[in-house]
Amino acid sequence: MKIAVIGSGYVGLVTGTCLAETGNEVVCIDIDKSKVQKLSMGEVPIYEPHLDILFDRNIKAGRLKFTTSLKEGLEHGEVIFLALPTPEEEDGSADLSYVLGVAEDIGKLLNEYKVIVDKSTVPVGTAEKVRDTIAKYATCDFDVVSNPEFLREGFAVDDFLKPERIVVGSSSDRAIELMKKLYKPFVRSGNPIIVMDEKSAELTKYAANSFLATKITFMNEIANYCEKVGADIDKVRIGIGTDSRIGKRFLFPGIGYGGSCFPKDVKALHKSGKNSQYDFKILDAVIRVNDSQKIALLPKINTYFNNNLSNKTFAIWGLAFKPETDDIREAPALYLIDELLKEGAKIKAFDPEAMKNVAHKYGDKIDLVTTMYEAVQNADALIICTEWSIFRTPDFNKIKEGLKTPLIFDGRNLYDIVDIEKEEISYFSIGRKDIKL
Ligand code: UDX
Repeated sequence: MKIAVIGSGYVGLVTGTCLAETGNEVVCIDIDKSKVQKLSMGEVPIYEPHLDILFDRNIKAGRLKFTTSLKEGLEHGEVIFLALPTPEEEDGSADLSYVLGVAEDIGKLLNEYKVIVDKSTVPVGTAEKVRDTIAKYATCDFDVVSNPEFLREGFAVDDFLKPERIVVGSSSDRAIELMKKLYKPFVRSGNPIIVMDEKSAELTKYAANSFLATKITFMNEIANYCEKVGADIDKVRIGIGTDSRIGKRFLFPGIGYGGSCFPKDVKALHKSGKNSQYDFKILDAVIRVNDSQKIALLPKINTYFNNNLSNKTFAIWGLAFKPETDDIREAPALYLIDELLKEGAKIKAFDPEAMKNVAHKYGDKIDLVTTMYEAVQNADALIICTEWSIFRTPDFNKIKEGLKTPLIFDGRNLYDIVDIEKEEISYFSIGRKDIKL
């Protein structure tokens, strides 16, 4: 099939590349000229495992092309994906100006039947707004479909190629048939293409992300309570996760969720509720608990150092909001670093992928070092903020040799308490007993 993808950001690139991989002819459109130039030369601007291999293969095969011309893209595609940003407004709602701006441009250019597919995460009712906007100008028939993405950063290619489900929101049989044809190669395993109305499809995305954020936040509260009463969150997690109604995944406590999706989507759903006179009390609590969880290690650090962090040096392992990404948006590490800097501490940080993005944000306010062991040299303590695999089995002797005193604050519970007890290190984690030498 012939496909156009408008917006060559994270979702647009993964969507375009993966659709090309199954033999479709894909044209990606972006307004950023230099980005389009680089993409056309095979440069992938984001870190996403496996994307580069597929990208290279499909560009070489001539199935994946880039342009700044919306007209060219529209003429090419029978299905037009919108993968545009919906940034958070100051009041938490989603800014639809990119989506509706492009809808207007599409309306003005449209002269034959096309299916316009909304991949961006958008509030309930957006498909209707997109349809109305296009209809104001268009002189031909068209359909609008809501088709939310469920791509995890770090696993986006796999999630796209082997989705657990595909949600298609549309009331047009013609559009539904086209979408089914397009996605057929991705659901050979028998996973479903779930067809529903547009509004339910739009809400499915928000409900999924908000549910997962709530699940994590609930565990974070149970972990905080474990600390008060001397219970162990690891044991509680396994105890409840073996109940198939609860499930084992997304029960890992830590210093909160971050990233480009959960924080934005939970706030947007909360705000959408308000706009419809519905008060999502549970989401309000999730937002507040997660905000305080991002700095949950701070009171422990302050207690250890008698509220005097000035001129203390902290090694930070992990800056990205989660492993396998260079994304630092809403990363808990950065909230903690900001608080430590405010209290006069010095920071020596290491992350396998996110250093470039962090350097951009902090300049010379923090020290970025090239290895995890360099970070601990002469530091007063090690703080772990992201669960990269490389941090899971470190050489504890090297850590102890580097640190002034053997002391770890672990925001991701990377080590078993029994293992750490053998290492003779003071160790503070989330929802488990403290080890104080
Ligand atoms: C998420 C959704 O999973 C994806 O379906 C959606 O389309 C986009 O948003 P992503 O933001 O890439 O994907 O990350 P995810 O792996 O879901 O993790 C989100 C956050 O939750 C991270 O900060 C992670 O550290 C945190 N998390 C996750 C926990 O704190 N505990 C857990 O048990 C799981």
